[in-house]
Amino acid sequence: MGDFVRVATVGELPDPGATVVEVDGDVIALFHVDGAFHALDDVCTHDGGPLASGELTGHKVACPRHGAKFDIRTGAALSMPAVRATRAHDVKVEDGGVWVRLRSGHGVDGPVGQAPVAKPAPLPIAAPAASASSTGAALPAPSATAAGALCEDSVRELLKQVKDPELFVNIVDLGLIYGVTLAPSAETPGKQQVSVDMTMTSPACPAGPQLIGDTKRALAAHPEVAGVEVRIVMDPPWTPDRMTDDARDQLGIF
Ligand code: FES
Repeated sequence: MGDFVRVATVGELPDPGATVVEVDGDVIALFHVDGAFHALDDVCTHDGGPLASGELTGHKVACPRHGAKFDIRTGAALSMPAVRATRAHDVKVEDGGVWVRLRSGHGVDGPVGQAPVAKPAPLPIAAPAASASSTGAALPAPSATAAGALCEDSVRELLKQVKDPELFVNIVDLGLIYGVTLAPSAETPGKQQVSVDMTMTSPACPAGPQLIGDTKRALAAHPEVAGVEVRIVMDPPWTPDRMTDDARDQLGIF
């Protein structure tokens, strides 16, 4: 562990307020809330967002990129899409100054409990039916036997092919599917129209368009599907409680 480094004078940072300081070559977010100072790595563990620029609400700061929240006192990740803490550091006030000492230990390198991940290959989805996106990659159509007769359960099985591109967990186990509805197609007798109510881990989720496209393509590949509609539902908001145990294992959340 290094020495304390003076990074600011007590009066220069408003309360509440945040700024960026440099300590031993590291970029640190310094927060001033309720008369106390707190220091975190200025790095969101989701995808590197600058936490000092985020919105501060009490002792929570929201990453300005996709909205993950962190506790400024501990660095704990409080909401998706971040699943692990950012590093918190020691702070003291002395001689009219604010001093920070870097803590060693786990920082932002590598997800906790999650194997280092390579970016997954694009979803191998079959040449879509008429309703599928023309921008999607081709994927072999599942046979009726493999996919099962079309029903809510088989739809959910097909949707397990669709993975969140940032978390690498399928959207069913993440708890993003709020509902599945099947109805006979008026235009194509013998086939069904599928409607999926889907949510996102955050309103600003950048993966939304990809997840919608992948969902349509995955379902359109089933021979009994005439068309697919995906409705985005933000109420009730998604929470980590909706994840299955499998998803928690994959994300290293215990
Ligand atoms: S980079 Fe912070 S939530 Fe995505």
